[in-house]
Amino acid sequence: MGFSPEWERQFSSGAHLSRWPWSDLVSLCRRHARHLPSEARILELGCGVGANIPFFLAQGWRYFAVEGSASAAAQAARDFPMLQDAVRVADFTAELPFSGAFDLVVDRAALTHNCERDIRLALARVRECLVPGGLYIGVDWFSTRHADYGRGAAAEDAWTRRDYEQGAFGGVGRVHFSDSGHLRDLFAGWEWLAMEEKTIERFAPEPATLAMWSFVVRKP
Ligand SMILES: C[S@@+](CC[C@H](N)C(=O)[O-])C[C@H]1O[C@@H](n2cnc3c(N)ncnc32)[C@H](O)[C@@H]1O
Repeated sequence: MGFSPEWERQFSSGAHLSRWPWSDLVSLCRRHARHLPSEARILELGCGVGANIPFFLAQGWRYFAVEGSASAAAQAARDFPMLQDAVRVADFTAELPFSGAFDLVVDRAALTHNCERDIRLALARVRECLVPGGLYIGVDWFSTRHADYGRGAAAEDAWTRRDYEQGAFGGVGRVHFSDSGHLRDLFAGWEWLAMEEKTIERFAPEPATLAMWSFVVRKP
């Protein structure tokens, strides 16, 4: 288990090169983390090639990231040379290779590409590295209402699927789906500040229901 190596294959073949900050991540950070001062330390889990970095740098925050794909991390370091030492290649379900506490941990569609056991391991580490009152902002965790929950192959637990051959999840390894009860269970002991499910009825090119969670929790 752990990091799905399929991600390295995707990035090294030039796929998943998102370059602009994701709007739901920007909205949630502006709504819930705008009070953070410019010296705040923030950690992004699974930064990919760094789509969200321009937004975080614009806030003036001290940015760190952990990314499992060496190719993606290298691309982020090329585009943001001042972050060369701040973007580390590691499996965040096994380690968070930083010392010092963080004020905010942000994850867009990264933990949700791991199985339940590994998500729990990573969340325990995240909780340890946050200051009391620190925030976790999760964006685009896939919902069990997503049409693809019924596709792919069975994986380690009932919430996780793998081996999609086509579509948005084609070739990316594990995909974890949640309902609200499962999220509350994964984040038991955290304070809930926001939990939102976005459902998109797609009509073209082929009909499908896409559904994702975004949420904000606080370490007491
Ligand atoms: C859907 S991409 C999202 C990338 C970026 N967060 C964004 O918003 O553009 C998921 C990212 O999480 C990373 N990832 C998934 N599981 C990981 C793990 N266990 N350790 C480190 N990185 C992981 C993948 O390599 C990939 O870069």
